[in-house]
Amino acid sequence: MTRPPENCDDALLCVRGVKKYFGGVRAVDGVDLEVPRRWIVGLIGPNGSGKSTLFNVIAGVYKPDAGRIWFDGEDITGLPPHEIYKRGLVRTFQTPRLWQSLTVYENTLAGYRGHSGENPLRALLRLFWRKREVDNAEASIERILDSGLKPVAGNLSSDISGGQMKLGELTRALNTKPKMVMLDEPAAGINPTLARQLFERIVKLRDEEGITFLIIEHRLEILFDYVDYVYVMHQGKIIARGKPEEVVEDPKVIQVYLEG
Ligand SMILES: Nc1ncnc2c1ncn2[C@@H]1O[C@H](COP(=O)(O)OP(=O)(O)OP(=O)(O)O)[C@@H](O)[C@H]1O
Ligand SMILES: [Mg+2]
Repeated sequence: MTRPPENCDDALLCVRGVKKYFGGVRAVDGVDLEVPRRWIVGLIGPNGSGKSTLFNVIAGVYKPDAGRIWFDGEDITGLPPHEIYKRGLVRTFQTPRLWQSLTVYENTLAGYRGHSGENPLRALLRLFWRKREVDNAEASIERILDSGLKPVAGNLSSDISGGQMKLGELTRALNTKPKMVMLDEPAAGINPTLARQLFERIVKLRDEEGITFLIIEHRLEILFDYVDYVYVMHQGKIIARGKPEEVVEDPKVIQVYLEG
């Protein structure tokens, strides 16, 4: 366990020199990245540039072959996913993962169940927890109303659209009371109006609840209206970083997008 580097002092998430190879494929090849508290940061790049693999390394799905990761001042390199999740760093998947046999509502509650089940005192504190679960259920209903999922809250999750799945996953992630949420292509498969509503909600969550976001997204025309800062990946490396208006004018970025 090491202390975060000095230039990461104010960052909630700090990544230094991270590498992840699959055989000869250098999926992530020496990435440095910071996400300051309460920022909404975009991670873009052509298909196969290593974005989802970087998420998987940060979230503990893969151990990095090199490099270190700090979250909220703590070295989380190589910790298993549930330990990282417990520290308040949650993520959604490029292909949404809701439990198909549960309703949308039950799925959003699952975030809480994971947390309360981990407390060994739970049996002794049953009364407290009962109250807690009622509170959680109420909060969950509010989040569902907020998310636009109300019409399908009682549907089985196998019976909703891809876009609704994405919203359900975000709603579940938020119910864990995270410090930071990493979203892998939240706007994919959603119509532009809904996608904009989703991003407006993300901005509101940042403004009102102080949640920090790192967002992979291919739909740059939407993403760039909402993010504070952007990292651009290509062949496992960060090739550009800056404000959206700076990044779109960077010749290296224009070139990789024209090639892709
Ligand atoms: N589990 C794996 N085993 C082997 N190779 C992998 C694995 N996961 C990813 N790769 C390879 O690593 C590279 C980066 O893939 P990754 O999925 O991280 O890209 P991405 O930027 O998320 O792409 P997309 O925009 O298409 O989602 C690709 O060449 C991919 O084929
Ligand atoms: Mg991906």
